[in-house]
Amino acid sequence: MKPTFFIAILLLTLASCKREEDPVLSDRYELRVPPGFPNPNIPADNYISKSRIELGKKLFFDKRLSSDNTISCASCHFPQNAFSDVSPLSVGVQGRIGFRNAPPLFNLAWMPLLMKDGGVPTLELQVHAPISDIAEMDSDILQVIDEIKNDYNDLSLYAYKRPFDTYVLTRALATFQRTLISGESRYDSYIIHGGSLTASELRGKDLFFADSLHCADCHSGFNFTSFNFENNGLSLNHPDTGRARITLLPQDVGKFKVASLRNVEVTAPYMHDGSLGTLEDVIDHYASGGQPHANKSPLITGFSLSNQDKSDLIAFLKTLTDHRFLNNPSFRP
Ligand code: HEC
Ligand code: HEC
Repeated sequence: MKPTFFIAILLLTLASCKREEDPVLSDRYELRVPPGFPNPNIPADNYISKSRIELGKKLFFDKRLSSDNTISCASCHFPQNAFSDVSPLSVGVQGRIGFRNAPPLFNLAWMPLLMKDGGVPTLELQVHAPISDIAEMDSDILQVIDEIKNDYNDLSLYAYKRPFDTYVLTRALATFQRTLISGESRYDSYIIHGGSLTASELRGKDLFFADSLHCADCHSGFNFTSFNFENNGLSLNHPDTGRARITLLPQDVGKFKVASLRNVEVTAPYMHDGSLGTLEDVIDHYASGGQPHANKSPLITGFSLSNQDKSDLIAFLKTLTDHRFLNNPSFRP
């Protein structure tokens, strides 16, 4: 997307911020914050309500958002894969291939910066990226509104008290995505309610949190990510410079947002370019110490694990799968 276009959209979006009246009682919706999570960030000018979620969900699965009506958000973000893509690089309209692996979508209400390079500050703004990107939906948002507004006007008037337009489309999609919350894995139940883990999973947990492996130094906190940008030594001269695309700083080359490890069992392939196919490949990568990139984190030092250790570590990672989230009917069309 052209920066001038992006700034124009940003100004339009900011210009329309103002405090809203509360929704009617029957439309109120209480976000369920899992135990151990901090309070989420909900913008003052886009409260969550049932009708807004419904509107956003319809849009998320609507292929008419793309120029040739073949691609919806869910064409790259599959619900059964925690809303991530199973292809290393996502395929958009006319078979065009993008340059990054589509990440899972959950706990986004807590994410300070979106995209693997942190280039987008809010979910409302993020919506413009896939719609206009030539390798994703390649659409003109105003034309999309024109094409679909008759189907959305009534719900829009109820949910946002205005006819369906760009303001409503971006806010409703952001709202639906804020309800994609995952915090009920077996590991959560072990921590919160004293649920049981197998001996192998417990050994894997100790490895994950061990000083020798450093996993939990970056994959830390309630969402198993520090939300920082780090170079984990994946490659030496990758054309995708990551965080440096936004900051233009040489010390940010090859740094990407630390991925959450929740639901990692179903989000393969892994890393920003989908270059690692399995969790075994990921552990072999970290064990090898990675490529000697100038910006590689000092925490990526390499280590050696027995086959038993490796399968224990993977068994632990799989305790982070939240089946209630993956099978939640409210997240399906
Ligand atoms: C053609 C595939 C494709 C389509 C269609 C698509 N996305 Fe994505 N999405 C991606 C990729 C690839 C990324 C990672 C982009 C990056 O990091 O630069 C991404 C990133 C995101 C993120 C940032 C998540 C994070 O962890 O930072 C959000 C939110 C998102 N998409 C929502 C949507 C919504 C909403 C739609 C529909 C309007 C949509 N996507 C359509 C491929 C797609
Ligand atoms: C220096 C910080 C750092 C350390 C230490 C670290 N990681 Fe990562 N990890 C990252 C970053 C950054 C990414 C995302 C890289 C990318 O997008 O290319 C990532 C991605 C991953 C992914 C892929 C997630 C996905 O959805 O693509 C897995 C799995 C993973 N790490 C597991 C581990 C394990 C297991 C350890 C310990 C052996 C570990 N990490 C140690 C920073 C780190």
